[in-house]
Amino acid sequence: MVSLPAQTAMPVADWFDPHAAMRDPYPQFARLRELGPVVFAPSVNRVLLTTHAAVSEAEQHPECFSSHSRQNPTMVRALGGRPMLRKDDPEHAAERSAINPTLRPKTIKSVWSPKFADNVLTWLDHLVEVGPDEADLNRDFAAPVASQNLIDLVGFPDDVDVESMRRWSTSYIAGIGNILDEPQIWKWAEESQTEVDAILDRLIPRLRKSPDASITSHLIEVGLPDNVVRANVHLTISGGMNEPQHMITNLVWALSEHPDQRSAVLGGETGWDSAFEETVRWQSPIGMIPREVIADTEVCGVPIESGTDVGLLLASANRDADMFTDADVYDVSRNARGHLGFGSGVHMCAGRWAAKNAIASCALPELYRRLPELTVDRERETRWNGWVFRGISALPVTW
Ligand code: HEM
Repeated sequence: MVSLPAQTAMPVADWFDPHAAMRDPYPQFARLRELGPVVFAPSVNRVLLTTHAAVSEAEQHPECFSSHSRQNPTMVRALGGRPMLRKDDPEHAAERSAINPTLRPKTIKSVWSPKFADNVLTWLDHLVEVGPDEADLNRDFAAPVASQNLIDLVGFPDDVDVESMRRWSTSYIAGIGNILDEPQIWKWAEESQTEVDAILDRLIPRLRKSPDASITSHLIEVGLPDNVVRANVHLTISGGMNEPQHMITNLVWALSEHPDQRSAVLGGETGWDSAFEETVRWQSPIGMIPREVIADTEVCGVPIESGTDVGLLLASANRDADMFTDADVYDVSRNARGHLGFGSGVHMCAGRWAAKNAIASCALPELYRRLPELTVDRERETRWNGWVFRGISALPVTW
């Protein structure tokens, strides 16, 4: 049942339409920010934090804004266990610190970057083979590259194929977003859990005997129980493929929409790192993250009661004009530092350096080196979808 929060100081966005937001959330985000930093949206029964200041304030106070989400158990059900992202410190920190060594910049450079570069070459050959009349950058390049990178990062065996990894990741993301409780989606996520667990049944004993550099191996090495290892591998599968996949397509789409900026990047005037960060800001793959208020508090002076479900609108915060000049404008030459596309605070994305290396150092430079004329094919339809998780599901390209 939708109930108005007791706080009277809070504006109500009774017009907020999550279905319309699936097509394009940004016009509604702009209206939400006009209403205030803290707004109640009855259609999602949530208090939404809309500005950069409000989201940052909440992220600095995990003692009030809990990630445990007692009232919102979709992630735990979708992944078949409670991962670090649905725990608070100190429990969360023990699991997070286990995976940090695998994902720190030095290890990315020495261990993972050469593999990411190889994966790009393999799937570029495939893209070229599909050809400029039929190619879909999402299907033929972004999804398989992101999947293979993740197979490597979690240390799964060579016989695991990219299509299985894509399917598992997509089903987990659907489950995490299954607030309408659709049985088909739970079934789909549970089937993925069974398949992934069968791989882990073989992998965990092997890694106990011979550890390697993978995320799974590091989770085991610090002595975490089996069910905790599994929950965090499922978590990594959900987030470690979907978002990088979306970032590859978002970047190519954004550069095709802005030919001058495309020339600046391809000509070397602007670095790929800068283009990457600006694209995460301007088209954030994760639009909203949930928190549950566990102690009466306030944000930007607005009181919020314990027990309130809150949504931190990362994508809206990233378009806040108080933080970024001409925030709605895509500008690869700007300094996008301070964007919240990877979150902030204790749960800030563990895979952000891996994603940046895989995409800004490996995938995109090589893609345009091989296909310098690559651009979106406007004869065929590009499809965007989602606002909590947002990305392109079909990106026809030609060259
Ligand atoms: C561009 C791509 C990516 C984006 C935009 C992204 C975004 C995010 C965001 C916003 C969060 C915070 C969620 C919250 O606080 O509720 C997060 C957490 C996380 N991400 Fe990413 N992510 C990306 C890539 C990756 C990759 C490649 C991996 C792993 C290989 C990964 C693993 C994780 C993990 C394990 C967490 C949970 C961290 C914790 O709870 O301490 N992410 N990500």
